[in-house]
Parts: sequence; structure tokens; C-alpha cells
Amino acid sequence: MDRIAIIGGARLEGEIPISGAKNSAIKLMVASLLTEEPLRLTNMPRLADTRFLGKLLARLGTEVTETEGPDGPETRLTTREIVSGFAPYDLVRQMRASFNVLGPLLARTGQAKVSLPGGCAIGARPVDLHLKSLEALGARIDLHEGYVYAQAPRGLKGAVIDFPINSVGATEHAILAAVLADGDTVLQNAAAEPELADLADCLNAMGAKVSGAGTRTVEIRGVSRLSGGTHAVIPDRIETGTYAMAAAIAGGEVRLTRTRSDFIQALIDKMVEAGVDVTAHNDGLTVKRNGARLNAVEVTTDPYPGFATDLQAQFMALMTLADGESVFRETIFENRFMHVPELGRLGADITVHGGEARVRGVQSLEGAQVMATDLRASVSLVIAGLAARGETVVNRVYHLDRGFERLEEKLGACGAQVRRLKGDPGEAEVE
Ligand code: UD1
Repeated sequence: MDRIAIIGGARLEGEIPISGAKNSAIKLMVASLLTEEPLRLTNMPRLADTRFLGKLLARLGTEVTETEGPDGPETRLTTREIVSGFAPYDLVRQMRASFNVLGPLLARTGQAKVSLPGGCAIGARPVDLHLKSLEALGARIDLHEGYVYAQAPRGLKGAVIDFPINSVGATEHAILAAVLADGDTVLQNAAAEPELADLADCLNAMGAKVSGAGTRTVEIRGVSRLSGGTHAVIPDRIETGTYAMAAAIAGGEVRLTRTRSDFIQALIDKMVEAGVDVTAHNDGLTVKRNGARLNAVEVTTDPYPGFATDLQAQFMALMTLADGESVFRETIFENRFMHVPELGRLGADITVHGGEARVRGVQSLEGAQVMATDLRASVSLVIAGLAARGETVVNRVYHLDRGFERLEEKLGACGAQVRRLKGDPGEAEVE
């Protein structure tokens, strides 16, 4: 397994182009199951997760072709026919979002058998709201031996679905299923993350009638078929925020391009409060810090437009070197402080009680061997490593490869000393 080694202390100067959003791209790929015509997605990130989903879709009948277009990586997906409505445990377990093939399979063929995703490292993460939405749309759902057996022999019917909490995955799943339903669907208390609006834009380009996505109320007028289309994936707001914090902890000046600052406004507000200089521009933002110490600030994660849970670990890394005590309240996932002991190995002073972490800023961090536990936790260790004295080695970087494209190249281009070590410690290095 690969590792990432970082020698801390280098200031970052330069430009980082942001890739297409992973969390959008994987739902857009799934949307291709809804039509027999080709769907062309541009500004695609090339990640372990998109490759992985491509394999699952290929089993279901999608022809997936990756090309280099005039504006970067593209993926073309064509599902002339669904050849299998079966998504096995081994595939769904590895990437939870692949569970969202259930709705489109049901909408297009009237039946599907999809494995329950199971727990994951950051908490229980149930799918009850996904299943309730599909039932509200008229599907018959049976659970046997870890599998969801879904049937809608006479097709799905429009419905009013009132979500008790804002769930990104369940809202997306309901939209993906309702676009081909008979009649109108209204989603109340929907998740409003930018990826929802992106999904709706793509589906509308394919002939769907979705309005209000990106707000708490989404209306879908069912259509009898969708066509193909072309759609550009929105920029990755989590990658944007992560590199903003990399620049802030290392010091220097970094321009993040091909992205949108408004997607991370809650983070920018906190960074400015902490003393980082952030300037928005029409192609992204510039992050600057002159070396002065930052102030501790309080952060509570919330659904969009609140502070993203996917940026919490990185912001905590930044706060390990701030003056004073900062408080982090995690309200989305119950087990999202797994980076805390690893940051502790670098010298951070953090205590956790339930859903709250208190970070007392230290004078300096010191490089060490650390372990990645999930996607966002692992990149927080890279961020801390940029400011730590000496060498930090992050093990199990396959977590990072799921969501960050060419991380060492992007940071390296700004002067960071980051390199990838191939193979396990103890294994022969094949660098
Ligand atoms: C998505 C993102 C993930 C991000 C999260 C919250 C993708 C691939 N992943 O995950 O990076 O951290 O949004 O912004 O887009 N819940 C239920 N029942 C359900 C579904 C969810 O109780 O059926 C709960 C979850 O346990 C969690 C909360 O709802 O506490 C929000 O989860 P959700 O928004 O669904 O997250 P994901 O879509 O899984």
C-alpha cells in the first residue's frame, strides 16, 4: 500500500487548479442508467471512486469510455440496455454511493437487487431514508440477507416525500428515481448541497423536469423517457477548501482556480475569523498568510450552506497551531473524530467528549508516522504534515486516492515537499 511522505516547513506559492467534484461525478455517472443514449460528462475527476463506480456500471450494462476532451478529462457513459439489476455486496460495500444505482435500476426496469452498504468508518450511516423514499414512490422493498429486493412492476408514481433530516444521498436517490415516475413528486426538507443542483442540471439537460434542487423544496415532474446529453461537473468544494487550508497552515500565497468560492463561504468566514487573508475572484479564490499565528475559533458542522463535515478534520489540523482553544461540534456523523489520535501523534493537544472536540493550540507539530482512517481524516494529516517539523508519513493513502486527484503533484507545484512512497513499510520500495 502506498504512503505519502511530507517534509514540513515549506511555504506554498503558486496556483492549484481544482478538479470536478467527486461527490457530484459519482451521482452523475449513475444518472446514465436512466437513458439508453450516451451521457457525456466533462470536467471529470479521475479518482479511485470514479474508476470503481465505472466497473459497477459496466456490470449493469453501461459502456464507460474515458477520454481527454478540449477542457480536460471526460467520461462518456452509454447504457443501451440494463443487462443486470444486481449490485453485489463486494462492490457496494467498497463505495457506499454505489447504493444509489437502486433507484435508477428500478425506474428503468421495474426491479433491482442491491446490497445494503453496511456500516462505514465514520458511523452507522443507515439507508432508511433512501428506502422510505422509494417506497413512497410506489416501490415494494424487501430485505433479505443483506440485500434490498425492490420491485415496481407497474412503474414508480409521483409522491410527496418529507425528509425528517437533510440527507444528501437520500435526496439524490429520490430525484434519480422520481424523474421517470408517473406524475409529480415534491421533496420537502431536501438536502441543498451544490451537488444536488448539479445533478438536477444534468438531468434537466437529459430532458427531466426538476426544479428547486439546491433548496429545501425540490419539485419533479415525471417524464416518460430521458435522452442523452452533455454536462460539466461542478468544481469540488471539498478539494477547494482542503487546499485553502493547506495554504493557510503552510503560509505563503496560493491561488485556487477553476472553482467557486461561494461553495465554501462558511469555511471562508471561519478562516477569516482565524486571521487568514482570503480574496474571492471570478475563477476561485486566493489564500494568503504571512506567518503570523492564527486565532482559535469555534466550528459547528451543519448541512449546506453550513460548515461542511467533510472539511472539519482539515480545519482541526489548522487549529492545532492557533493561539487559544478552539471547539469543534460534529453534528452530521457520530464517529468523525478519528483523525484526533493521529493528529495527537504529531503533537496536537485535542480532547474529545461525545460530539465535541477541544483543540488547544500548540507552538509546533513534529513529524511522525500516522495512519489514514477515512478520506477526509487522511488529508487532514497531510495538512498538519505541511507545518510539522521534519517528516510525516501518512500510511494507508488509498483513502486519499478515493477523493483527491494528483494531490502530491498539486501541492508539489506550489513548493510543498510531498512525495508518494510505493508499497507497505517493510515491503521493498518500488518508487
Ligand atoms: C454525503 C457525502 C459525504 C458527506 C455527507 C454529508 C457523497 C458520496 N458523500 O454522504 O461526503 O460527508 O453527504 O455532507 O456525496 N442518514 C440517515 N438515514 C439515511 C441517510 C442518511 O439517518 O437513509 C443520516 C446519516 O447517518 C447522517 C446524515 O443523515 O447522519 C447525513 O447523511 P447524508 O447527507 O445522507 O450523507 P451521504 O449522502 O451518505
